[in-house]
Amino acid sequence: MKLLPALVLGAVVAQDYYFDANGERKKKKTKVTKSDACGCTEMPKNGPDAVATCVSDGGKRKTIDWTCPATGTTQRFTNVKCRRIKKMSLNEQCGDLTCNCKSEVDAFVATMSPDEGQAVGTCTNARKKPTYKLFCDTDSDNIHDAGEVSQEFKVKCRNGEIRKNRFDQLLCGNSIIGGDGWESGPASMPSGLTCADPTNPFSARRKRKIKDFATSKIVGGQTVDRKTTWPWIVKTPGCGGSIISANPSGTNDWILTAAHCCDGLSSMNVIVGSEDRMIGGASTDEEFQVTSISITKHPDYNGNLGSSNSPGSDVCLVEVPNLTDSQPAGCNDCWKPVCLPSTHVDDKRLCYVAGWGTISSGGSSSTFLRDVGVHAFSQEACTSIPDMSGLVQDNEFCAGVPDFNGDGITDGGKDSCQGDSGGPLVCEESGTAVIYGVVSWGFGCAFPDNPGVYAKVSSFTSWIFSTMNS
Ligand code: ARG
Repeated sequence: MKLLPALVLGAVVAQDYYFDANGERKKKKTKVTKSDACGCTEMPKNGPDAVATCVSDGGKRKTIDWTCPATGTTQRFTNVKCRRIKKMSLNEQCGDLTCNCKSEVDAFVATMSPDEGQAVGTCTNARKKPTYKLFCDTDSDNIHDAGEVSQEFKVKCRNGEIRKNRFDQLLCGNSIIGGDGWESGPASMPSGLTCADPTNPFSARRKRKIKDFATSKIVGGQTVDRKTTWPWIVKTPGCGGSIISANPSGTNDWILTAAHCCDGLSSMNVIVGSEDRMIGGASTDEEFQVTSISITKHPDYNGNLGSSNSPGSDVCLVEVPNLTDSQPAGCNDCWKPVCLPSTHVDDKRLCYVAGWGTISSGGSSSTFLRDVGVHAFSQEACTSIPDMSGLVQDNEFCAGVPDFNGDGITDGGKDSCQGDSGGPLVCEESGTAVIYGVVSWGFGCAFPDNPGVYAKVSSFTSWIFSTMNS
């Protein structure tokens, strides 16, 4: 654990605490100028800097003048009992209330154990329950940078001391990428999911309850039956794609893929209904090929995926001739569309990604379609990963294996990989297949601490519909 600059902490901690022979932290007894305050030690609650002058000490009843050094104003409390003073307020605040309990926070931070990472506390609100924001200062610059995990704590503050602290709930290493609440489910996507009406984006009515948390863990996947399980997946050059329409005869259909899969192409062939990744392989009766009519990359896409100046937007629409009109006689329900989402999937859901891409980082491509289950990470969880911080845009999200092994970083072993780009990440919503992600980028594949990054389809639903309808 890297400590904050020692002198900052040292100064604050040293003045209020000492460590006894057993190494236990003890609060120093502070000397109070009792005589000035008629023998009272309490301070008005909004006046930590106020200086007391005893006007008259009538036994239990005291009269005290409170002077604020910063403003020079004096205010008299007459006939007060000592213990009442801490409940009383001055007409004007005197002193920095936000620092009331500061030394406690710093002392806590200083004693955090190494595997909790390093935390920095800033007080963001004073009054009875000051709010402290603690964050994991990953790069030890003492500044809360984007992507550094943070959590706010309301504390009870009394006479500059925190009564009860819950700071130890902040776990710098693994609080949001690990833990409970991750959905469990089968290794492969359940078969038989469909999209009844692709013209209607799917909208979850209420937050879905996640039944279990997973106890277990394309890379790390298995071959899967395309027709029954991924009937919307298609093969585009070097990539995958998804059928997102099932238009009436005579009307063009649409494929969703990644913008980087459309780079430099004015036309492409799309293979539909094939279990393997070519025409003339395993599923000759059902498979067919169509040639694009138009290719539209998202206008914001700039080719800089995975860098801080990337606008994300790795989506591309490929307009193809009507698929029903184009399919061979042997195609019996050999393809189906997938539903678009109107809102993003809940984090911690178990979703699936499929493709014919490489089955290990830098390895060779799969002949047959494979899929793998990955969990959807919240944006916060993803950007808390140092390698990802600042690189994952709002219209992107990460999916991978949470920190089930508790080593503080996301686990590896399951991911999409090269050649899977443009393909679907699908989550089941009450029997409906919804495409929440398009395979976009990642640092290698399936490595711990480096989840895959997907275009967030819900960010593009209106662009998709307006492009299809224009
Ligand atoms: N960009 C890759 C492609 O063109 C996809 C990479 C996905 N990487 C990952 N780790 N999920 O096929």
